[in-house]
Amino acid sequence: MHNINKIRMLEFPQLGDERGHLVVLEGQKDIPFDVKRVFYIYGSDHKAIRGQHANRKSEFVLINVAGTSKVKIRDGEGNEAIFCLNRPHTGIYIPEMVWKEMYDFSEDSVLLCLSNEYYDPQEYIRNYQDFEQEIVGNK
Ligand code: TYD
Repeated sequence: MHNINKIRMLEFPQLGDERGHLVVLEGQKDIPFDVKRVFYIYGSDHKAIRGQHANRKSEFVLINVAGTSKVKIRDGEGNEAIFCLNRPHTGIYIPEMVWKEMYDFSEDSVLLCLSNEYYDPQEYIRNYQDFEQEIVGNK
């Protein structure tokens, strides 16, 4: 299967009552991997484009726990898809070896990112042409 076809939106149960909402994310259950790393992106300029890289090993789930943003995915073979993250109880699962760009951040955007891998700059591909070549080479 092409990796771009593994992308899917995840909908998490909201355990709400009169006190408000609560969302639980458990590895291998709500999140399709064991979580090794959590980071979050906030205070992003509305014009900023983040990401702009592919990962050889890291998979991600991205959730706008506050505010909104968009994610553009490119597969290096001419296909692309755009997803809107606009609810604290939905996320997007992103597999390894797709190009991703996060943009259109609302002022209050807090983008929570979960990954199956520890941070390793060596597994980041930060040049789009290099990414395209690796995609061709992996076939
Ligand atoms: P960067 O990959 O540019 O963030 P984004 O994907 O949002 O564009 O990372 C910004 C800085 O943070 C960079 O110096 C690397 C560092 N960083 C870590 O040390 N650990 C991490 O897990 C991540 C995602 C980034």
